[in-house]
Amino acid sequence: MKLTPYGHSCFAVLVSGKTLLFDPFITPNPLAENIDISRVAADFILVSHGHEDHVADVVAIAKRTGAAVIAPYEVSQWLEKKGVENVQGMNHGGAAKMPFGRVKLTAAVHSSSMPDGSYGGNPCGFVVESSDGNFYYSGDTALTMDMKLIGEQTQLRFAALPVGDFFTMGIEDAIRAAGFVAVKKVVGVHYDTFPPIKLDREAATRAFEAAGMELLLPAIGETIDL
Ligand code: NI
Ligand code: MN
Repeated sequence: MKLTPYGHSCFAVLVSGKTLLFDPFITPNPLAENIDISRVAADFILVSHGHEDHVADVVAIAKRTGAAVIAPYEVSQWLEKKGVENVQGMNHGGAAKMPFGRVKLTAAVHSSSMPDGSYGGNPCGFVVESSDGNFYYSGDTALTMDMKLIGEQTQLRFAALPVGDFFTMGIEDAIRAAGFVAVKKVVGVHYDTFPPIKLDREAATRAFEAAGMELLLPAIGETIDL
């Protein structure tokens, strides 16, 4: 699987020939100023919750690419009102077969309202299964025991976890989360974008190493193989 981060919690994973784009927040992010959203590919857009820093560019990219959007039900309804046509509103614990394999919505401990203040339902994470391998993106969340269920059920190649602290898990809890879902490789997301989530990369990398894990922090726009 190839993964390309686009800043904050936005990243694309190429899975079984399909590009899955998560939580697009590119145009409002100065750290991602070199990313041209008119060139960001997507066959599917997976949205974890309604906050602006996860939905900012969903409508534009969905309309341009015709990508199918997978989101919690209330987020999907909001996107439909914005004119996004191909939307699949799911809910927690639900899984669906997809052209890339299978996707399941997992619990996340966070909040969710849409940028205009309307109700965003509950935030989620995603387990993606495919013939290329499986991975977990937790979305914005606290550490939760529910993550153990994911590790028991699905063998994962990697997890994308927030590491920025303040609004989500920080390093210490992300390491425990990686243990709960039984991965050794973590792609860090949700860091550096805002002053309270500035990451000490060296300290973070060392902490993961000390736990026998690897923290990957690829540069924005850089594609890595996982
Ligand atoms: Ni959030
Ligand atoms: Mn967020």
